Amino acid sequence: MGVDRRAGADTLRMSSAPVHLRCAGFGKRFGDVTAVDRVDLEVTRGAFVVLLGASGCGKTTLLRMIAGLVEPDTGSLTLDGMDLTRVPAAARNFGFVFQAYALFPTKTVADNIAFPLDIRGTGADERRARVSELAELTQIGDLLRRFPHELSGGQQQRVALARALAARPSLLLLDEPLSALDARIRLRLRKELHDLVRRVGVTAIYVTHDQEEALELADRIVVMDRGRIVQDDTPEGVYLRPASRHVASFVGRATLAGGIVGASGSVRLAHGDELTGLRHDLSPGRACAVAIRPEFVGLRSPAGAPYAATIVRRMFMGPHMRVLLDGPFGLALEAELDLKRWAALGLDVGDRVGVDIASQDLVVIADPTT
Ligand SMILES: Nc1ncnc2c1ncn2[C@@H]1O[C@H](COP(=O)(O)OP(=O)(O)OP(=O)(O)O)[C@@H](O)[C@H]1O
Ligand SMILES: [Mg+2]
Repeated sequence: MGVDRRAGADTLRMSSAPVHLRCAGFGKRFGDVTAVDRVDLEVTRGAFVVLLGASGCGKTTLLRMIAGLVEPDTGSLTLDGMDLTRVPAAARNFGFVFQAYALFPTKTVADNIAFPLDIRGTGADERRARVSELAELTQIGDLLRRFPHELSGGQQQRVALARALAARPSLLLLDEPLSALDARIRLRLRKELHDLVRRVGVTAIYVTHDQEEALELADRIVVMDRGRIVQDDTPEGVYLRPASRHVASFVGRATLAGGIVGASGSVRLAHGDELTGLRHDLSPGRACAVAIRPEFVGLRSPAGAPYAATIVRRMFMGPHMRVLLDGPFGLALEAELDLKRWAALGLDVGDRVGVDIASQDLVVIADPTT
């Protein structure tokens, strides 16, 4: 794995599974732009890996290099130890689903699904059986005679998924397959896609810039930034132990504060407050950053609370109330409270409030610069 920052026990467990796909030193430049910068990535068989990152960070380029649609400048790709670096895309037997519905407009749904079988010269009986099996899996059995322009976006992506799985690919590559769909269909298809990929058991690499999608789908999230892998971890690991400021604020919400490590595990924040009892193994004197997640900020009456703040704004978010606080630590801090808890406090904008933050919930980030 590129950058492995998981806890020791996890690392042992994950790395003992056999590697299915391996990219080593994968790199691609377009003119002056380094789209993918010497990426090392290992994927075990049957894993669902999500490449997550902001627009332009190189996700699509990396996925297309794995697919064989973009030729890498540096590095190699192996599948079960076989070097595929120079093997053309058509000979790799990988399934690909794109963001835009890339169906053949003049072919019916059935003929679209069967396309990968037709180019392999699959016999009529097997073709028919496989199309109906896939149509059932993707729940489009009643659409087989239609043409793509007679389908909704969600239906078209079901067809694209069925087609990608038709030739029993050794790897399924998906590039933001749900991002063009409206929110409700996207959520439904996300769950269906997750269940279907697990049922089929195919190894999947899924590109998205949507952190919620990544957390829901992934066994492993590979976070990219400016062409590089900056964290390769479980969803919990990325969320609870982000490797950098960038990851902490890209996955979930976080208030970030710069600080210096003090004696016996404490951290002195730039504003002067000293936090004690934090979990980290950094040596005293080191610069670091502290990430505070809104759900770990507790509010209560000011009397006897460790910190005090003023409520600047509140936002009703449906299941919870998001509260913006002025201070402590000189920070604009966010808290998230369930609605019952918020109502019980009887507070509003302008009120002083006590703030509780358990030290063990604070994330200390070793490298404060990224
Ligand atoms: N064919 C190309 N020619 C020139 N530059 C390219 C080409 N393809 C990608 N790039 C550049 O490489 C960088 C990475 O692009 P890429 O499409 O891989 O990003 P991405 O993470 O998929 O972004 P998005 O989330 O917007 O799809 C960008 O700066 C992009 O402009
Ligand atoms: Mg892209």
